Amino acid sequence: MAPTSQRVDITPAQETLSPVEPCIFVIFGGSGDLARRRLIPALYNLLLDGLLPSNYVVLGLGRTAMSDEEFRASVRDGVVKHSRQALVEDPWNSFARHVFYLAGDNNDPQTYTRLKARAEELERSFQLPGNRIFYLSIPPSSFTPVCDGLAGSGLAGVPATRSPYARIIVEKPIGRDLASAQAINRVTGRVFDESQIFRIDHYLGKETVQNLMVVRFANSIFEPIWNHKYIDHVQITVSETEGVGTRATYYEEAGALRDMVQNHMLQLLFLVAMEPPYSLASDVVRNSKMEVLRCLRPITAKDVEQFTVRAQYTKGTAHGKPMPGYRCEKGVKPDSTTETYVALKCFVENWRWSGVPFYLRTGKALPLRASEVAVQFKDTPQILFNANSQMPQAPNVLTLRIQPEEGLSLRIVSRVPGTRGQTHPVEMNFKYGEVFGRPSPEAYERLLLDVMAGDASRFMRRDAVEASWAWITTILDAWEKLEQRWLPEYQAGTWGPVEADRLIQDDGRTWQIP
Ligand SMILES: NC(=O)c1ccc[n+]([C@@H]2O[C@H](COP(=O)([O-])OP(=O)(O)OC[C@H]3O[C@@H](n4cnc5c(N)ncnc54)[C@H](OP(=O)(O)O)[C@@H]3O)[C@@H](O)[C@H]2O)c1
Repeated sequence: MAPTSQRVDITPAQETLSPVEPCIFVIFGGSGDLARRRLIPALYNLLLDGLLPSNYVVLGLGRTAMSDEEFRASVRDGVVKHSRQALVEDPWNSFARHVFYLAGDNNDPQTYTRLKARAEELERSFQLPGNRIFYLSIPPSSFTPVCDGLAGSGLAGVPATRSPYARIIVEKPIGRDLASAQAINRVTGRVFDESQIFRIDHYLGKETVQNLMVVRFANSIFEPIWNHKYIDHVQITVSETEGVGTRATYYEEAGALRDMVQNHMLQLLFLVAMEPPYSLASDVVRNSKMEVLRCLRPITAKDVEQFTVRAQYTKGTAHGKPMPGYRCEKGVKPDSTTETYVALKCFVENWRWSGVPFYLRTGKALPLRASEVAVQFKDTPQILFNANSQMPQAPNVLTLRIQPEEGLSLRIVSRVPGTRGQTHPVEMNFKYGEVFGRPSPEAYERLLLDVMAGDASRFMRRDAVEASWAWITTILDAWEKLEQRWLPEYQAGTWGPVEADRLIQDDGRTWQIP
């Protein structure tokens, strides 16, 4: 691990990147929040880093009537507010010349006739070879008309043709249970071959998430001890400080298990638990992850109360500001049983992980915004420096921080200077921003570039999406059978309900505070 003082400067051009061909990038939902806050800023940053293809067009779609100029002004504002790198006039003006807008309703077949005409006209004037990427940044209810419209108009190309290519990016939520996820996959699968479909989970584009595989498989010290003989347990935490805010309509139908665990947290679990893939080819990596899913013990009705805790936040204080309870938030039903917090314990039943619990917890209105994976190693024997059973030594913990400050730390026990022979836990810290001298690219930058390069390794394959929904749906069904009208509560601004503390304390362990 490089000490924090040793700074390494790497320019984007030094990175190993697959070649990216000129293409048109069509954003369904171009007038929406995601396009404005994430997608357009990501494309602009790729341009600044010299990573966009030599020629490209960005075409936004939405119902809102807007001219190209109005659209450019609106996304410019998004870049000013949300871009990783500041807006600079010259590159922005050059970028903006490639940005266009088309108004239309996804449910109107005419939209696709007009889209085809506009796309072909732009492809001619920018001399593009016909490569097309379609981003579904729209509610899932629009997926069917859009896929059918793309197929009917011929915009989707011939499935699986390599050149020119047609690719589709599907945003979450990909379903709200197994049946709805299968329905979405059927709809996209009718028109696009699996190799053309990129199901996005932006966590997979985050630097530390990508680093999980590097830490495990590019260092010789971790892999030999990465198993049940040396690891006591794993904790995965995703904590948010905000309440439900303006997203009540979506959140009431989702809840913490669907919103966070089904996708982001299970993906983290797969990366921690997977076997070493024999290559980095996308299907080889995804096969290794899929194996973990196959080994994940289902949490059924018989053990759902023992293995899961769900709760809702009540009135409290967050960062000195009063916060209403979840049931009093705008758009939330006063008798809602949607969980804003979930903690669970699960097991990967294979040779490597036999008996090692994975504790997952996520919630809204918690004291800190943080996402991290903590791998806690087994205690040393109670001899030598750990002989005092009243004051057991702190175990080694490897913590991979995904946000807010990407990096990792390793807790080890050290001798305290002096004559008394005391020991104390200390941390070796590595922060991406400090060591590599520049902030990490946003997850969407990495992922959009992957789609242009045709690399699906950081995207979810159909079988994995459906298998993870099957695992989650078992828990949802078990919860439904409990017919709980009130969930355990936790005060906004605290670390969750006492029931979640008991879940881990009953095993003689404690939650690690990020
Ligand atoms: N925002 C995020 O950070 C985020 C993160 C992860 C996933 N997502 C998902 O990504 C999708 C988009 O999110 P968002 O936050 O951008 O939502 P949003 O701000 O509500 O935008 C929705 C977009 O879809 C368009 N749209 C909706 N129905 C349409 C129709 N019938 N015909 C044509 N266009 C239609 C809207 O166009 P008009 O407004 O012009 O009508 C708008 O551009 C959602 O499914 C969301 O769950 C969002």
